[in-house]
Amino acid sequence: MFSSRVTGDLGPNRLTRAVRRARAAGTALIDLTVSNPTMSGIPYPASVLDSLADPAALRYEPSPFGLPDARAAVARDSARHGINVAPERVVLTASTSDAYSVLFKLLCAPDGDAVMLPIPSYPLFDHLTRLDGVRSIPYRLEYQGRWAIDFEALDRDWTDTVRAVLAVSPNNPTGSMLTAAELAALTERCEARDAALIIDEVFADYALSAQESSNPDRQEAKGKREKCLTFRLGGLSKSAGLPQVKLGWILVDGPETLARGALVRLELICDTYLSVSTPVQRAAPSLIAAGAVVRAGILDRIRSNDHELRTLAAAYPSIQVLPCEAGWSAVLRVPSTRAEEDLVIELLERDGVLLHPGFFFDFPHESFLVVSLLPERPAFVEGVRRVLERAHA
Ligand SMILES: Cc1ncc(COP(=O)(O)O)c(C=O)c1O
Repeated sequence: MFSSRVTGDLGPNRLTRAVRRARAAGTALIDLTVSNPTMSGIPYPASVLDSLADPAALRYEPSPFGLPDARAAVARDSARHGINVAPERVVLTASTSDAYSVLFKLLCAPDGDAVMLPIPSYPLFDHLTRLDGVRSIPYRLEYQGRWAIDFEALDRDWTDTVRAVLAVSPNNPTGSMLTAAELAALTERCEARDAALIIDEVFADYALSAQESSNPDRQEAKGKREKCLTFRLGGLSKSAGLPQVKLGWILVDGPETLARGALVRLELICDTYLSVSTPVQRAAPSLIAAGAVVRAGILDRIRSNDHELRTLAAAYPSIQVLPCEAGWSAVLRVPSTRAEEDLVIELLERDGVLLHPGFFFDFPHESFLVVSLLPERPAFVEGVRRVLERAHA
């Protein structure tokens, strides 16, 4: 479960072993790493999956990019984020992870071509690139009151093997979003250097303040056609809190000839796997509509937990809860009185609280802790109390 891009160690580390020991001993743990909304006491209407039983799915009509109604439903839903996309530019996948694999196959030749990845960010990228034989070149997000791309470092490390730059907005776990200026700077570089831009927007629905969700600067930046080949990723896993349903998508944008060429090659890849099930495609319009209720429940949970966390932490001046625009996690900067790993193991073994250390996400230095905002409120509040008490100087 815990691996680090820093060490490249895929075997169990000290923390993983401690977690296994605690679980084997039956220790009751408050889990502040939970990222699965279906196991977090979020209300799900019993009818939310009814549409999966539509008998229309008895007929199998293989279609590389997905059934037209499903693609049209995704295109319509994208308008919520100011994205204007034609259904013909929507490609369905079984998940966002599946979308990455499809895009790496499209853009990169194995064992040479590279993708630039943000750090800190989602740890699975390491496996996703490796499993497709793609090299990853990290680029740093620096924290200076907000998380911003270090463009100097990005330019320095950009080689002629780079085929794509990956941006995660909102980023997991920092909760930071690309500004319009950052998006423009990435687009400019990708256009000039013949690379594609992949923007992972799976957490786009989860602004932690109502103000952020309607930021006109970002809405306007997204409304325009991108100047480089661009792929925006989303899926029901986060937008409807339905990871088990397995439906993701790629929105293809960019100059007409590049986008068309990409779609031709994507068709071959998608036709080879045909990975999205027919019941899910038939149900997609209803699932997208029904997902709004689940999304509202998740939003409510993360906003109230974020508020609780900031209120509780205010009593501990040595601990800073970093500003966070959106997403399902919060980041705490804590005094570096001991190694992050020691602190997290101590929290596990002495306080019965499980949480991620910053190194799990490749934070640039110690000491950071990452807590999920998804747990039910009583457990979350108690867990956070114990963390603050243990971590403060
Ligand atoms: C930034 C990011 N992208 C993609 C995914 C994977 O999403 P999916 O379940 O659609 O594969 C996650 C899962 O947590 C994530 O954090």
